[in-house]
Amino acid sequence: MTILVTGGAGFIGSNFVLDWLATGDEPVVTLDALTYAGNLANLSPLDGDARHKFVRGSIGDGALLGGLLRGHEVRAVVNFAAESHVDRSISGPAAFFETNVMGTLHLLEAVRAYVAGLDDAARASFRLLHVSTDEVYGTLAHDEAAFAETNPYKPNSPYAASKASSDHVVRAYRETFGLPVLVTNCSNNYGPLQFPEKLIPLVIHNALNGKALPVYGDGLQVRDWLYVGDHCAALRRVLEAGAPGETYNVGGDNQKTNIEVVRTICALLDARRPRADGLSYAGQITHVTDRPGHDRRYAIDARKLERELGWRPAQGFERGLAKTVDWYLGNEAWVANVTSGAYREWVARQYG
Ligand code: NAD
Ligand code: TYD
Repeated sequence: MTILVTGGAGFIGSNFVLDWLATGDEPVVTLDALTYAGNLANLSPLDGDARHKFVRGSIGDGALLGGLLRGHEVRAVVNFAAESHVDRSISGPAAFFETNVMGTLHLLEAVRAYVAGLDDAARASFRLLHVSTDEVYGTLAHDEAAFAETNPYKPNSPYAASKASSDHVVRAYRETFGLPVLVTNCSNNYGPLQFPEKLIPLVIHNALNGKALPVYGDGLQVRDWLYVGDHCAALRRVLEAGAPGETYNVGGDNQKTNIEVVRTICALLDARRPRADGLSYAGQITHVTDRPGHDRRYAIDARKLERELGWRPAQGFERGLAKTVDWYLGNEAWVANVTSGAYREWVARQYG
């Protein structure tokens, strides 16, 4: 038995692969295109580990996928591969539709052909888990109920629209071709190995480098933060016991405004690595122009996952954020490696 993890060199994918092999022995094949967001160093703890094989390639490459599925007798696919950053989807939407929609389509086609060739028992137990986002549901007013699986899709950014489209294609393959798919829609993740274009690692990185901490607009937008290890545990549980064709929301039940998150990071850094001048990192907070179409609030109702599969987040936010800050402080070589050329060009374009 082997699982195929696509996009497994990115933030959540690499945490998932590392956790998978730390909690069991079933081999993993990781397929990743190694875009700017994919980093082989994320998987370096698995160097020399016979249970893990890395292949560089795209989910858009049907022939490669077919070979991997058959060659490794894959029994499940977990699809993390995507363009994932909202701001990049605003400055260049096309790549999001190419990877997130067309890439997912090619993956589904390869899986469909593979599953058709399996014997009855293998076909019955095969699963494709498509990892998606709460952003497909759009935005919530401050007093609206959290997103349930039954909420209509109302994506507002090109990223969210591309993920929503991919979810629809996955659903269509279930309805039309009977593919045994599972979909998860998760809230914002944080934790080790997150590329420093996303809010939390960007703020840590900028703070330590004496740069502005850019807060979009008034900073009162709300996100429902989930520790990445909790997301990985949810995905393992859905893969193990989720009902094919079902969608599960995954969230931290942990709504925070952006400014609150940024201030908490500043306080953690003040305690751990005080600025030379003795002042707080909070002095570096700078309100900048808001993101176009910026969703005001996300909140996830994850009761279905708890009720049906018994999953709950285990990591509290304060402790989880402290662990994350400590990870970045202890892994400055990793940060230096990923914040090389392509990263610097992005920051210059985005923040001027
Ligand atoms: P990420 O950008 O860190 O990683 C994406 C990975 O996919 C990278 O390693 C990249 O190289 C790879 N990739 C891109 N195009 C590919 C292609 N054509 N073929 C193969 N690999 C390709 O993203 P992430 O934050 O780890 O998110 C992973 C998945 O989880 C995404 O689908 C995202 O939509 C979803 N998600 C993310 C969050 C979050 O907070 N980060 C929350 C909910 C859902
Ligand atoms: P981000 O980490 O990009 O995730 P998402 O847009 O998928 O929720 O952003 C989290 C929140 O932080 C979002 O409301 C946008 C905001 N944000 C800033 O205020 N400044 C920044 O520099 C970034 C990257 C994000």
